[in-house]
Amino acid sequence: MRNILGIRNYDYLEFYVGSAKVVAYWFARALGMQVTAYKGPETLHRDRCSYLIESENLKIVITGALKPSTSEIYSFLGLHGDGVKRWSVEVDDVQKTFDYAVLHGAVPIIFPTKLEDKNGYVDHSAIKLYDDTELVFINRDNFKGIFMPGFEKPVQKIEISSEDTALKGIDHIVGNVRINQMAQTADYFNNALDFETFIDFGPGDISTKYSALLSKVVRSKDNLIKNPINEPFKGMFKSQIEEFIEQYHGTGVQHIAIETDDILKTIASLRKNGVEFLEIPDTYYDLMREKNPDIVENIDDLQRLGILMDFEGDGYLLQLFTKPIFDRPTFFFEFIQRRGKSEGFGQGNFQALFESIELDQEKRGNLK
Ligand code: FE2
Repeated sequence: MRNILGIRNYDYLEFYVGSAKVVAYWFARALGMQVTAYKGPETLHRDRCSYLIESENLKIVITGALKPSTSEIYSFLGLHGDGVKRWSVEVDDVQKTFDYAVLHGAVPIIFPTKLEDKNGYVDHSAIKLYDDTELVFINRDNFKGIFMPGFEKPVQKIEISSEDTALKGIDHIVGNVRINQMAQTADYFNNALDFETFIDFGPGDISTKYSALLSKVVRSKDNLIKNPINEPFKGMFKSQIEEFIEQYHGTGVQHIAIETDDILKTIASLRKNGVEFLEIPDTYYDLMREKNPDIVENIDDLQRLGILMDFEGDGYLLQLFTKPIFDRPTFFFEFIQRRGKSEGFGQGNFQALFESIELDQEKRGNLK
């Protein structure tokens, strides 16, 4: 079923960071991606610099400020630290999608605008999602240049060799909100974007001995765009969502799940490239062997690489989560491979996962 907003798929996502050059290098080197475009003083943009890094359909823009007057970036960084400023979806008609969203309750941030240069134009607009995070609608059908007006091939050819990680694109994007904000945020998505609530985890569904959270998954009706939303729930100690809200000083994107067709290769390469993952206890794999699941992968391989597995509907998924990427324990990546018709998010793994997160939370002094 086609969605009525004309959403074609995920497009780029953009991070605001302290030093774009250094972070872009880490993303390219560690995640096995290519720096493909650049915007900055050399391309006559003097207040900020941005690096586009890509792997198949995955497009990540890393942006940093160059002048004190770039206050929008500094105020974001001062409050939240490095994090996701915006993510975007490609649409058939930016004006139409924006009008529908705003008519149905979306808060406008950027009204439909044409960005132009000698290569044509890109239409874009944006609505508010979380405190300082926005969703961009973009269409570049009338643009022949690289990525977006203002971007050019990297001035300095950056050759970064690393292991091939076979990253394909975005599977889902997850947001964290405060207590009592989850239901209203889900309604906001469902009304403004004509999404539907696909899964709803209530009290007691996701909890460990120490902490708990609530989660609703909203998605476009064609299942292209999937957006779980978490809020903290009362437990004995502080939940990972509470830690995020405290350390990020607000609501925002908690993790981005990147899809791959070969997670064994992806994780082996990412580990060689120095990416750190949550540690999964051996007991998790002992339990998996007892259940003797009908899967293509060898359980010894999954254990060696620390990959989690969960049966979902008519298929199963394989997934693994990194440790926090930036200085603050806020944003992280997930890598996911879906086999068959798997539509969920690994609910069977939540227990093992959250116990692992709590161990790290305790090391940071943020559990109690
Ligand atoms: Fe996820």
